[in-house]
Amino acid sequence: MNKPITTANVQPNDLSQFWMPFTSNREFKAAPRLLVSAKGMHYKSHDGRDILDGSAGLWCVNIGHGHPKVVEAVKAQTDTLEFTPSFQFSQPLSFDLAQKLSLMTPEGMDRIFYTNSGSEAVDTALKIALAYHRVRGESSRTRLIGRARGYHGVGFGGISVGGIPANRKFFGPLMNGVDHLPHTHNLAEQAFTKGQPEWGAHLADELENLVALHDASTIAAVIVEPMAGSTGVLVPPKGYLERLRAITEKHGILLIFDEVITGFGRLGSSFASEYFGVKPDLFTMAKGLTSGYVPMGAVAADNLIYDAFMEGSPEGIELFHGYTYSAHPLACAAATATLEVYEEEGLFQRAADLSPYWEEAVHAMKGLPNVIDIRNIGLVAGIELSSREGAPGKRGMEACIKAYEAGLMIRVTGDIIALSPPLILEKSHIDEMVEITSNVIKALE
Ligand SMILES: Cc1ncc(COP(=O)(O)O)c(C=O)c1O
Repeated sequence: MNKPITTANVQPNDLSQFWMPFTSNREFKAAPRLLVSAKGMHYKSHDGRDILDGSAGLWCVNIGHGHPKVVEAVKAQTDTLEFTPSFQFSQPLSFDLAQKLSLMTPEGMDRIFYTNSGSEAVDTALKIALAYHRVRGESSRTRLIGRARGYHGVGFGGISVGGIPANRKFFGPLMNGVDHLPHTHNLAEQAFTKGQPEWGAHLADELENLVALHDASTIAAVIVEPMAGSTGVLVPPKGYLERLRAITEKHGILLIFDEVITGFGRLGSSFASEYFGVKPDLFTMAKGLTSGYVPMGAVAADNLIYDAFMEGSPEGIELFHGYTYSAHPLACAAATATLEVYEEEGLFQRAADLSPYWEEAVHAMKGLPNVIDIRNIGLVAGIELSSREGAPGKRGMEACIKAYEAGLMIRVTGDIIALSPPLILEKSHIDEMVEITSNVIKALE
């Protein structure tokens, strides 16, 4: 150590050392937005203001902030057992949690692999898909197919199948053997649709073209977000996911749903697979799994996939993959308590019950200046603003800052505002969110 950690060496309010992720460090450090505590639907800012949480933190705090049940569970777990390896050892809570999760996953998708984040869950799902084909003797199936505008975290696997240009272009050639479906958004056909658009199911047929191009025998898996969140809330067209399922099944290609955002009540159901009635072969989860109280992600696999490893691998380790912190005891405790809160407070049903009110409230912003589309599903809304000439993203970022000044946390992607509040919210919070967002939009140049 160069210098001891003493008060003389640690300056208060020095923001220079922390290199912030997905943030303009230069802008932020010139005018920081620091949050110092949180309870229920609100954060408290460093200047003592209540900030209504319109984004569940980062799409994760579904049970609201400071829930005593989860806080206590994590504290108690820290007292009892703070760490166990999960390579060759484990702890009972990890198995109990997997069993509980399997009660929520679609029938026959009972096998749970733990990670620490959504990005790791994505890379894990992709690796399982590749290895699955190999253990079954189809090792030519190595190609992965993602979708334009897809967000699958920031690992090399995730950015390779992902389709957000800024997240890819700085990082070289990425993974080999990846192709992309077109995204499903079309303003001319879909603007201001409430819920799922009628137009666009045919875009799933593009997969047939990729199969024709590459041959099914080279394709391992297709990965999509059932509802694309981070790119700015793209709701799947009616029938689209069903078609993707039919085409993947026909060609022996695994279908992976990235449910990092859509899991745990965001759409008013356990998972999007349940909401849309489409069962993938693998799906990822994170965020709402622990409501963000402790980092955790996971992959749920079809039992047949797990069985293929158990039957097809030589003796010994079946999958050479895992993380030091897979099934971390604190994360398992947080997730177990979070699942109990979902059930005891009926939060998935609450989200479903509130969604018609939500839909009407957010669509009331139609007609405000620069609003070119509003879309919604479950307790999610995207409000797309037109971009300023030569300055894409500027209007969106200004909206984020103005909303924060007015007491509301929103998430922006480029010029699209995303709202995705904790599922505990009341109608009055919806009204407040829409009022602040409307005033912010009106005040933008
Ligand atoms: C669909 C999806 N996949 C993966 C991720 C990455 O998760 P994490 O940031 O926990 O790595 C996200 C994060 O927003 C996401 O929305």
